[in-house]
Amino acid sequence: MKFVVGSGAYHMREEFAGRVELLEAEIKSFPDGERYVRVPGEGKEVTVVQSTFRPQNEHLIELLLLGDALRERGFERLRAVVPYLAYSRQDRVTKEGEPVSVRAVMRAIGLYYDELYVFDLHNPETLRYFPGKAVNLSPAKAIADYFREKLGDGLVLAPDRGALGRAEAVARELGLEFSHFEKKRVSPTEVQMWPVDVDVDGKNVLIVDDIISTGGTMVRAANLLREMGAEKIFVAATHGVFAEGAIERVSGAVDELAVTNSIPTPVSRISLVNEIISL
Ligand code: R5P
Repeated sequence: MKFVVGSGAYHMREEFAGRVELLEAEIKSFPDGERYVRVPGEGKEVTVVQSTFRPQNEHLIELLLLGDALRERGFERLRAVVPYLAYSRQDRVTKEGEPVSVRAVMRAIGLYYDELYVFDLHNPETLRYFPGKAVNLSPAKAIADYFREKLGDGLVLAPDRGALGRAEAVARELGLEFSHFEKKRVSPTEVQMWPVDVDVDGKNVLIVDDIISTGGTMVRAANLLREMGAEKIFVAATHGVFAEGAIERVSGAVDELAVTNSIPTPVSRISLVNEIISL
């Protein structure tokens, strides 16, 4: 399988080099800001790796242009690997007149690509909007491998019940206990949180989520674990969609923060490249 690495995955390029056959695409912007791509080579099957973090729209358009260029060159089977899929949180109409943005994005990608692979999609049910084969990949092994030594015989927690499956997947890789925080609103401004059915006293704890945005969820969970006597506190997430100041906020509250390289950030220490190559 030949690979094209788009500008949304340039931060992974070195890891691909020498391990897969790379088609070196020319990618640039015209002076007016429009994107230009040109792909070399020929063949039947190709995988395009393109994450769609900020500037999301440019990365998305580039993915479509690469698809068009590859079809033009005669490639017959196109796979898109989109480690972070932009617009994935806009998965429902909340006010009349809105689009289901993730559906629009998936349909557009589906015009060119036969298969779509994403990591830890916000709402996996939305994969049905992609017209071809669509797969939600788990970063659990990569996260577990990164924290294995540091965590020792600690435990893995999800910040809420909805994220329990994620914590479970990482814990199973490590052969460790797992649980989740429960949340209860006690007043309009106060939410109580506590870890369910586990004793964290004296234990190393890894909290796992899909996205860190403001960092508020993780800081609240970490502070609580400290009060409850946890030893070392580690935080991992698949997508570091960090708002201004979030990395510092979370790093200041925990022993280590590490996210995957679905989005390049100063703490994107967990690589997904092995998972992508082995698809
Ligand atoms: C929520 O659905 C997500 O799984 C994360 O828990 C959330 O996006 C984290 O946001 P923040 O970092 O702003 O607390």
